Amino acid sequence: MAYKTKEWRGNMRVTVDYNYMMSKTLGDKGLTDSQFKAIKSQAEEAFDFVAKNRGKDELFMGWTELMYNQDEIVADILATAKSVRKKFKYFVVLGIGGSALGPIMAFNALKHLHYNELPPKKRGGPKFYVEDNVDPVRMQALLDVIVPEETCFNVISKSGATSETMTQFLIIADILEKKGLSLPEHMIFTTDEKRGNLIKIDEKYGGKFKKYVLPDGVGGRFSELCPVGLLPAAVLGIDIKGMLAGAAYMDGLCSKPSIAKNPALCLAAMQYITMQQGKNINVMMPYSDNLKLVADWYCQLWAESLGKALDLDGKVVNAGTTPVKSLGVTDQHSQVQLYTEGPFDKVITFISVKNYATEMPIPHGCEDIPDVGFLGGHTMQELIQAENTATGYALMKAGRMNYTITLPEVNAFTLGQLMFLLEMQTAYTGALLNINTFNQPGVENGKIATFALLGKKGYEAQKREIAEVGEPDSKYIV
Ligand code: PA5
Repeated sequence: MAYKTKEWRGNMRVTVDYNYMMSKTLGDKGLTDSQFKAIKSQAEEAFDFVAKNRGKDELFMGWTELMYNQDEIVADILATAKSVRKKFKYFVVLGIGGSALGPIMAFNALKHLHYNELPPKKRGGPKFYVEDNVDPVRMQALLDVIVPEETCFNVISKSGATSETMTQFLIIADILEKKGLSLPEHMIFTTDEKRGNLIKIDEKYGGKFKKYVLPDGVGGRFSELCPVGLLPAAVLGIDIKGMLAGAAYMDGLCSKPSIAKNPALCLAAMQYITMQQGKNINVMMPYSDNLKLVADWYCQLWAESLGKALDLDGKVVNAGTTPVKSLGVTDQHSQVQLYTEGPFDKVITFISVKNYATEMPIPHGCEDIPDVGFLGGHTMQELIQAENTATGYALMKAGRMNYTITLPEVNAFTLGQLMFLLEMQTAYTGALLNINTFNQPGVENGKIATFALLGKKGYEAQKREIAEVGEPDSKYIV
C-alpha cells in the first residue's frame, strides 16, 4: 500500500542543488558540463553494476531491497516494540559501528533532542541509550542511570564476534544474572540467522531469546533499514514504515542511468571527478541539530566503503576521500574559516531543512543597538537558513565547491530518502572507483592485534610479533 498521498510524497521530495559545484558560479574552480560528459559512459557502467547486482547477498547488496521484502518482519517488530514500550522503562542498544550508528542517528533525527529528560508522559516510550564504545567510564555512566530490572537490552552484532559488543554483553549479562533476572526476558538479539556467538548463546538458553535476523547480504553500515535500525526506532515510536517508504521513494528517483536525472549518481559523479582533481576531503555539514548525527553515520558509510587499498583488478589504488563531520551554524565559528581560506582540497555537502519542526520567533529588543536590534521580528528558522545560504554563497565566492541536499522537513519519510540517497551515492562512487565497496579488510588487522594483546587462543604468534615489533623505543617518547 502506498505511503500517504502522491501529492504529499511529492511535497516531501529531497532535492540536490549543485549550482555551487559548477563553473557557471565558480569559474575555473568549478566543474563543467563537458567533465560530466567525459565520464558519461563510466557513470552508466556504475549505474548498471548497481542495478545488475542489487539484492545479491553474495555481494553484500541485500540493502537495496529492504524496503520491499520486510513486511512480515516489520509487523513482528511493531508487535515486539509495543510490548517493550509497555514493559520496560529503558531500552539500551549494545553494539558498535554499523550496529550502533544508525540507531543513534535515527533517534537523534526523529525524536525530541532532550528525549531522555522529558517526563514519561511526554516521552511516550522508554529512555534510550546506545553503548557505541568500550570506554569503562561510559559503561559505568550507563549503569548509574538505568535500572536493570526495568531495562531491555538489544544486542546487535552481525558476526556475534565483535569484542566490544561481546564485552558489553558480558558485563550486562553478569549484572542481570547476579540479580536473578532472566537474560532472555531482558535481551533481544539482532544477529546473523545461523552463525556467530549470539546464536550459540541462544542455543545454551534453549532458543529462548527473541531474535531478529541481520540479513546475510546487509553489511553493518548499510543496515539501518533492517532490524538493526527498525527495532530501536519502533521502540521509540518512530514511523518505521515511513522510513522504508522514503527509501523506496528515493530508489524510484534514482532509477535512471543519467547524471542529470539520478540524484545519487549525480552526487557520486561529482565526488568521483573531484577526487581525480585531488579534492580528498568530503565534509558533511547539516544545518540542523536533528541531522547532526547523519554526518557521523555518513562518515562511517563513506570511509569504510571507499577507503580501499586495491581495486577489483588487484591494482593498488589506495582509494577514498576523508569524510569530515561538521555542524551548521556551530562550525561556522570553528571550521568554516579553514573551508573558506585553506587548501582547495574539500567538497562540502550541506544538508538543509526547509521547514524546521518549530520556528522560534526572535522578540524585538535592544532596538537602540543596531547590531542586536535587527534580529528582532525574525525567527530562528530564518536566521539558521540565512546563515546556511550565506555560508554556501561565501564558499562559492571563495571558489570552494559545495552542494546542498534539502529536506522539506525532518520526518521518517525524508530521513529514509536521505539515507538511501547517501547509500546509493556510496555504491555508485565505489563502482566508479572499481573497488569493493562492501568489505572492510582494513579493520581486520586492528581486530587481530586486539585479540593477540588480550591473549585470545590461536593468536600467540601475533602476540609475539607485537612484543617484538610493537615494543615502543623510549628514544621516541618525550
Ligand atoms: O559496517 C560494518 O560492517 C562494521 O562497522 C560493523 O558494523 C561493526 O564492526 C560491528 O560488527 P558486528 O555487527 O559484526 O558486531
